Amino acid sequence: MKIDILSLFPEMFDGFLNTSIIKRAIDTSLVEVRIHDFREFADNKHKKVDDYPYGGGQGMVLMCQPILDCLKSLVTKDSLVILMSPQGQTLQQAYSQKLSLEKHLIIICGHYEGFDERIRDYVDVEISIGDYVLTGGELASMVVCDSVIRLLEGAIRETSHEDDSFSDGLLEYPQYTRPYEYDGTVVPDVLMSGHHENIRKWRLQQSLMKTYYKRPDLLQKREFTEEEINILKE
Ligand code: ADE
Repeated sequence: MKIDILSLFPEMFDGFLNTSIIKRAIDTSLVEVRIHDFREFADNKHKKVDDYPYGGGQGMVLMCQPILDCLKSLVTKDSLVILMSPQGQTLQQAYSQKLSLEKHLIIICGHYEGFDERIRDYVDVEISIGDYVLTGGELASMVVCDSVIRLLEGAIRETSHEDDSFSDGLLEYPQYTRPYEYDGTVVPDVLMSGHHENIRKWRLQQSLMKTYYKRPDLLQKREFTEEEINILKE
């Protein structure tokens, strides 16, 4: 997969691209990530990227020309153009899974008060990471990239994302590691039993319970298997 990110603050990505799973995915060529400072595409003497809003009002608006010239230099028939914005569809795990199948993502990060509306004409999808406003799209774009890159085959241990929260519409079951006892609290017996079928059932039950108490909204959208219905009745 290739990811091109358009940003006025390329330095914000340094830590993200040089750490842990993301760094390894880049080093092993699972993904190629390039950051483009669209200020370099500004065709005016002072490399201005924003201007006052028509009709008046507070703040500055990002102009079409620098962003769209940068975009046009990158776009191919395989590209999916994403605009990071609080007005977009909220990112969900299922959508990250869909994005992980794309060949080429181009992600536009805005800053300041907003964009010229005409930029939206060149965008395939607008994504928000939640109902709050950030100072710019950079952090949001890293959230998208992180959630997508970890799903690429080989990025993390095979199948380990099959147990992720949300991947089956439920929150993840509780996990434990050594020591067996910590501050008087011990690991549930079933996990020490070595009985794989009982462990599977317990985990499913725990996932259902956690979701019921913490995120009941997730259950409303979901179809249940017969086994799950029986667990919920208990
Ligand atoms: N830019 C500013 N706020 C944002 C948000 N919540 N999601 C995506 N992009 C943003």
